[in-house]
Amino acid sequence: MGKLDGRVVLISGAARGQGEQEARLFAAEGARVVIADVLDEQGEALAEELRGELGKEAARFVHLDVGREEDWRAAVAAAKDAYGKVDGLVNNAGILRFNELVATPLEEFEQVVRVNQVGAFLGI
Ligand SMILES: NC(=O)c1ccc[n+]([C@@H]2O[C@H](COP(=O)([O-])OP(=O)(O)OC[C@H]3O[C@@H](n4cnc5c(N)ncnc54)[C@H](O)[C@@H]3O)[C@@H](O)[C@H]2O)c1
Repeated sequence: MGKLDGRVVLISGAARGQGEQEARLFAAEGARVVIADVLDEQGEALAEELRGELGKEAARFVHLDVGREEDWRAAVAAAKDAYGKVDGLVNNAGILRFNELVATPLEEFEQVVRVNQVGAFLGI
């Protein structure tokens, strides 16, 4: 019996990195995982792999740009359509940019805010 049996968890930025590992761990613990990311190919491949290992309900991929409210609405609707509910969220998606602040173009600053702050806010 897994620690997350019966739970449905949406993980943003789950196509690679820490989000991917969270998706693998949660699925191994019995959760049905909604892998949400802008990286469609990698996200689909991970969902497919987890379904192959753990059964056809184990995971599904949804395209999600966390800075877009309409993407969140569509992702939650897809999760509810597939599994009937959402129990948990991992607001994992995030980006890092390494410019010094005074050398950071406004566009880049706004992109970081959009993904790391607006994205987390919309997720909640
Ligand atoms: N790796 C570390 O040492 C570390 C340390 C502290 C915090 N973090 C945080 O943990 C999180 C994951 O980090 P990581 O190292 O796995 O990074 P990563 O770059 O490997 O993975 C980030 C994932 O987020 C996705 N993503 C980026 N922009 C997105 C958007 N607009 N919408 C949806 N998905 C988007 C990417 O496609 C990618 O799959 C980030 O929020 C990062 O800031 C990482």
